Amino acid sequence: MRRFRAQAGRPLSGEATVPGDKSISHRAIMFGALAEGDIRVTGFLEGADCLATMAAFRQMGVDIEHDAGAGRLLVRGVGLHGLQRPESALDVGNSGTSMRLLSGLLAGQAFDSELTGDDSLRRRPMARVVGPLRSMGANIDTAEGGRAPLHIRGRAALRGIDYVMPVASAQVKSCLLLAGLYAEESVSLTEPGPSRDHSERMFEAFGVAVTREKARLRLAPGQSLRACDVEVPADLSSAAFLLVAASIVPGSELLLRNVGVNPTRDGVLTILKQMGADITRENERLAGGEPVADLRVRHAPLRGIDIDPALVPLAIDEFPALFVAAACAQGVTRLRGAAELRVKESDRIAVMADGLQALGVQVSVREDGADIHGGPLGGGRVDSHGDHRVAMAFAVAGQVSRSAIEILDCDNVDTSFPGFVALGRSVGLSINEFSDTEAPQ
Ligand code: S3P
Repeated sequence: MRRFRAQAGRPLSGEATVPGDKSISHRAIMFGALAEGDIRVTGFLEGADCLATMAAFRQMGVDIEHDAGAGRLLVRGVGLHGLQRPESALDVGNSGTSMRLLSGLLAGQAFDSELTGDDSLRRRPMARVVGPLRSMGANIDTAEGGRAPLHIRGRAALRGIDYVMPVASAQVKSCLLLAGLYAEESVSLTEPGPSRDHSERMFEAFGVAVTREKARLRLAPGQSLRACDVEVPADLSSAAFLLVAASIVPGSELLLRNVGVNPTRDGVLTILKQMGADITRENERLAGGEPVADLRVRHAPLRGIDIDPALVPLAIDEFPALFVAAACAQGVTRLRGAAELRVKESDRIAVMADGLQALGVQVSVREDGADIHGGPLGGGRVDSHGDHRVAMAFAVAGQVSRSAIEILDCDNVDTSFPGFVALGRSVGLSINEFSDTEAPQ
């Protein structure tokens, strides 16, 4: 197991391109595999989660050439009905996106399959996808409490569905749209609020019509995917750690290149700007149907704010970083309407609050959020609970703490940000990594 040790160092400076967008990388493989023809992918995130998706499709007979280290793939699409029965369970490790999206796709296949994952993923709620899939006629058995492993029986004739989603979730939405490719009737989904729309954008690029009328999406039956190359931008969720680090370390100025700034993902930029951060977008453009920009961030004093609950789904993965920004701000930051954070890779409200409290920050926790009182950060030891984004958030906190912060259980950082330590160090993050056996006590 790896640990990080982070401590105050120098200002952040220079330029960096963080790894590719996780959500778009997963979809590039899934949509590419279901398309007819060859798909070239650039900027693919070579993190454990997306590699798990790649392995799952290879197990189902899809030929994927991977130029490892270069983020380039050639996916030889097999068409909607070309997947083959996997010989063993599809183990997607820590990846909720793989499991939830694949469950929809597998419900429509002519073969049986099993989806499983690591301890954390087997604790996460799958009923949110299994319930509506069953209403469509899917045949799925789960472990207790609607959790993985999921046993999906093929040859089900899928009906349509007109579903009002209880939570804004791109994973649920995308799962049902993928199942809809195999349904005999249309799939209509009403979202309680916007969630990331990468699937809708990629469907359009692959020639599948998903129409939207206000909050209601509709996918008509009988559509197929035509091959289309995918250019994956850098992941704003990974950039967020460096945006917060540069904001809180005096004297910093950093340029992050080619970052995806899809408006259904950019809540972190809005929230940080409301807190006083100095972040500007340069060179804004569209790449493969997704808006991208270079982000320039300069140090600026942050102040506490009441976070607009409407922004929560648009920044859902960035709260570990935002908790640290709030701890470094002047005044109180109030977060509400964020109960979804409790069912991410860890219970991010509890885990972030515990860690910040261990560093001397005053945090009062609520079921759906927290009040974070800005103030000086001390050093100490915090547990990431195997959550990649929690580990990186505390590494950022270490850049301004009075003494070093040691972060336990950091292996999963590779799920979304392989090379985090090396890239961070190249722009001035003061961080080292150790294995448990060699860590300084
Ligand atoms: C994702 C959707 C979000 C997000 C996750 C990736 C996606 O999950 O937290 O990291 O790629 O669709 P929810 O849909 O559960 O909010």
